[in-house]
Amino acid sequence: MITRRKFAKISALAGIGMATGIPAPIVRSQAKAISANEKINVGLIGCKSRGWSVLQQFIKSPEVECIALCDVDETVLNKRSGELFGLTGKRPFMFSHYKKMLELKEIAIVIIGTPDHWHCLPFVDACKAGKDIYVEKPLANSIAECNIMLQAAKKYNRIVTVGQQQRSATTWASIMELIKSGTLGDVKRINGWANFGYGAGAPRVPDSPPPQGVDFDQWLGPAPLRPFNRNRFHGSWRMNWDYGGGLMTDWGVHLLDMALWAMGDTRQFPETVVASGGIMRFPGNEIQTPDTLNVVYNYGDCIVQWENNGGIQSGPWNRNYGVSFVGSKGTVVANRESWELVTEGKSDKPLTADLPPQPIQQDANQTHVRHFLDAVKNRKQPDCTIEIGHAAAVTALLGNLAYRTGEILKYDPQKQGFMDSSKANSMMTPIYRGPYIFPSID
Ligand SMILES: NC(=O)c1ccc[n+]([C@@H]2O[C@H](COP(=O)([O-])OP(=O)(O)OC[C@H]3O[C@@H](n4cnc5c(N)ncnc54)[C@H](O)[C@@H]3O)[C@@H](O)[C@H]2O)c1
Repeated sequence: MITRRKFAKISALAGIGMATGIPAPIVRSQAKAISANEKINVGLIGCKSRGWSVLQQFIKSPEVECIALCDVDETVLNKRSGELFGLTGKRPFMFSHYKKMLELKEIAIVIIGTPDHWHCLPFVDACKAGKDIYVEKPLANSIAECNIMLQAAKKYNRIVTVGQQQRSATTWASIMELIKSGTLGDVKRINGWANFGYGAGAPRVPDSPPPQGVDFDQWLGPAPLRPFNRNRFHGSWRMNWDYGGGLMTDWGVHLLDMALWAMGDTRQFPETVVASGGIMRFPGNEIQTPDTLNVVYNYGDCIVQWENNGGIQSGPWNRNYGVSFVGSKGTVVANRESWELVTEGKSDKPLTADLPPQPIQQDANQTHVRHFLDAVKNRKQPDCTIEIGHAAAVTALLGNLAYRTGEILKYDPQKQGFMDSSKANSMMTPIYRGPYIFPSID
């Protein structure tokens, strides 16, 4: 066994990057429950923003220890390592390559907090290494990656959750109960929207050398080779197709997921998807995803409509982002800050009393992580299963594909392909840049 002390010594000798030459241990899939007092060792891949904030939720639980951090940016890695030491009094192992981190058999859970184009490879490898996984949303940056990740989680019998923390929020659960109870009458339309300044990208700046300590080639990973540009890097990668899907996937997965939940999680995919939009407000910015977009999903008996506006900070129902569930008797409007119920038509004898905006008090992030840890310990399903994450990500990605092809798309989940659209079929799978190879499951 590699002890922490021994490993740290080797690591110190090898420096950050840790070409240790330690052979990969064969790790058997965890299949039994973890006892109440057993430690759960966690490793984080992608430490800058969201990954770090999720990790902080993990280490609130006394049974959790973060023993490893991995990032391709040495500055981020050192900073987070120091902060973790400050919080826990323990120094994590540090890696610049996730594959080396996965060799640590002591790690039970891997958190994936990398940009969207870097979810699939570490996820599939982590499944193969017998780790349980907290992967950030959207599950991946393409439909084919989502499909292979679902397959891997099942084949290797992993407990997986996706960072759609609204699935752990009691308020959203209450809204779903309200809809299920029929209080709103027939809900035939669900609108989701996200208007954010950052959805417009940022004014173009010239390409430049990457900052010191950044392994930019590895940051790009399987994505095409491009020069470094700070407006396509930490945080700002979201508006470029190679790394993310704009507001459509960034917020769409959270809010369209509420639509899927409201429809009972029974029909994961729409019959048709059609979209229209463009880079209309900020054509001079560093942006490829549309700043202005509408998508209509037809589920046969319910229309789900998505709208995003980059650079705009206000929106319907006095909310810059949210969801409205429109029923024949009433409409519920909600976002993470508050929710309200508006009686349809305000008839003399309303079937439902209006509810003014209700504040949302619970910290969904904390509950999401706590429930995932319980799921790992008991080998049970978490609040947001891989199936839920898969459905939400594919739904959002369908919106982007409808926009990019300009076609009315019909996705056939059985065939994992589109009917009548060779263009959409050709865009389902990203072309991985060598030496990276699109993962396969034996
Ligand atoms: N659930 C939520 O509410 C929520 C909120 C924000 C972000 N997210 C998701 O979290 C993920 C990360 O977003 P972010 O805003 O933190 O991005 P970020 O750019 O701020 O941070 C990503 C980090 O990953 C590192 N990284 C990149 N490639 C790597 C690799 N191959 N190995 C190791 N590290 C690598 C980067 O250097 C950086 O430190 C995204 O998928 C995003 O959609 C979710």
